[in-house]
Amino acid sequence: MSLYERLGASEGINNIAHDIVENHFANPAISSRFNNMKLTAEELKSSAAKFFIAGTGGPVDYQGKDMLLTHKGMNVSAIEFMAVLDDVLEALTKHEIGQREQEEVLFILYSFRSDIILK
Ligand code: HEM
Repeated sequence: MSLYERLGASEGINNIAHDIVENHFANPAISSRFNNMKLTAEELKSSAAKFFIAGTGGPVDYQGKDMLLTHKGMNVSAIEFMAVLDDVLEALTKHEIGQREQEEVLFILYSFRSDIILK
């Protein structure tokens, strides 16, 4: 079964993405980053869900901005990157996603580190 299916397919992932973004808004380590977005909160949730669905083997061709372009110029720190990963794990736990799946998601997200934290 693909990771996409094990995360609950499109409906499950939409719910997870919703909670990830809400966790970011409530996380004091990063919440202020989301005060002056180009996207609305709903657009960010939808974009995050599409990115997740595409990246886990689901039926979406992610047409959004790539991660390097999206986060370029934000000067994201390693601590902020960890805060985002914490929020993701918290949302996955809330949705009772298993440890194996959490590890796979973490590994995929970690692979974007060098596109998001620029040296
Ligand atoms: C693996 C880690 C991350 C992934 C996969 C990711 C993914 C995304 C995606 C898919 C978008 C929407 C892009 C679009 O449709 O235009 C986005 C936007 C954004 N991300 Fe990230 N992100 C990550 C880490 C971070 C970190 C560490 C921060 C800083 C705390 C951050 C801050 C933002 C902000 C502020 C936006 C909104 C940009 C705007 O609309 O102005 N992201 N991210």
